[in-house]
Amino acid sequence: EKGGFPSFMEKEIHDQPDAVAKTLLGRSDIDGKLTLDELRIDPELLKHVDKIIVLACGTSAYAGQVAKYAIERWCRIATEVELSHEFRYRDPIVDANTLIVSISQSGETMDTLMAVRYAKEQGAKTVSICNTNGSTIPRESDAVLYTHAGPEIAVASTKAFLAQITAAYLLGLYLAQLRGNKFQGEIKDILADLNKIPAKIQRILDNEDQIKELGVSMKDAKSVLFLGRHVGFPVAMEGALKLKELAYIHAEGFAAGELKHGPIALIEEGQPVFVVVPSPRGRDSLHAKVVSNIQEVRARGAKTIVIAEEGDEAVKAYAEHVFYIPETDTLLAPLLSTVPLQIFALALASAKGYDVDQPRNLAKSVTVE
Ligand code: F6R
Repeated sequence: EKGGFPSFMEKEIHDQPDAVAKTLLGRSDIDGKLTLDELRIDPELLKHVDKIIVLACGTSAYAGQVAKYAIERWCRIATEVELSHEFRYRDPIVDANTLIVSISQSGETMDTLMAVRYAKEQGAKTVSICNTNGSTIPRESDAVLYTHAGPEIAVASTKAFLAQITAAYLLGLYLAQLRGNKFQGEIKDILADLNKIPAKIQRILDNEDQIKELGVSMKDAKSVLFLGRHVGFPVAMEGALKLKELAYIHAEGFAAGELKHGPIALIEEGQPVFVVVPSPRGRDSLHAKVVSNIQEVRARGAKTIVIAEEGDEAVKAYAEHVFYIPETDTLLAPLLSTVPLQIFALALASAKGYDVDQPRNLAKSVTVE
């Protein structure tokens, strides 16, 4: 049942091309038109949504944070992402023009369920992005967009995360299509790029040995930091969470731009720092900014490990290790850049002899508040 892999987690990391492909399957036609019929919310209502609030916990909340960048860009709808357990207790502003998008792999997370119930009581429309057919959160929501990642057995979430990002992107594209805004013309291209993602994930998996070796070689690390910017920021936090959960070592993800506002004080000789570098082809000279962040930490003794796009030669000068991921649209890059971080955490924790499927103190579905 582990498909020949030593753990469910390793199998599930390798299931990811399929998880993304199945989540995309049958949800658009050849003309690049989204057909999310399952969304059963009156399209007129969706046209009038003026705010989206994504509710989730843990890894699922990081999927929401990634999706926020895409939804705001494509739909021009203000999008907040909030941890479910924080949302309920702050008297949030929610009304009939608010669309709540909950993200939950299990569909049973009590904090998220309670937050969805609360939002419904305030009159909001609720969409659930969920991986578990017939579970409680989708049953209680107005609509559901299932992620078709297949059952996720390992406690730490991997394939569900990529499937959640994929589903949230489909929802974003669908809203953009409905609202007929200026990104209309791009939808077809983005869908085409999304459809190329599974093969690109497969290429990363085919070259996983290099990152596995690094994970094994770092098994005595006491602390690992992760930096990212834009969509790379939630990826950095997800990389850190995987390492905390599986290897029980201190790990932290930061927004690269935040370094000089405090975290750079942590950097000392030999501190390992992963940096998720945006594509040099992207907008807003983000690439140059992140490269200068790499230089800043390196000048203070950090051991830098860089995830960059194939062909990005510029980063080599500043990195002890570079892992290349295939080219894609900037917004889609998390579907690729997360994968080496998952493999790293898996390899490091395995080298320490830990049970990667059942990390200590954790449960697969958190059905208590
Ligand atoms: C991390 C992890 C957790 C879950 C979180 C939410 O690897 O698995 O952080 O993402 O407990 O669970 P769901 O998505 O089932 O609501």
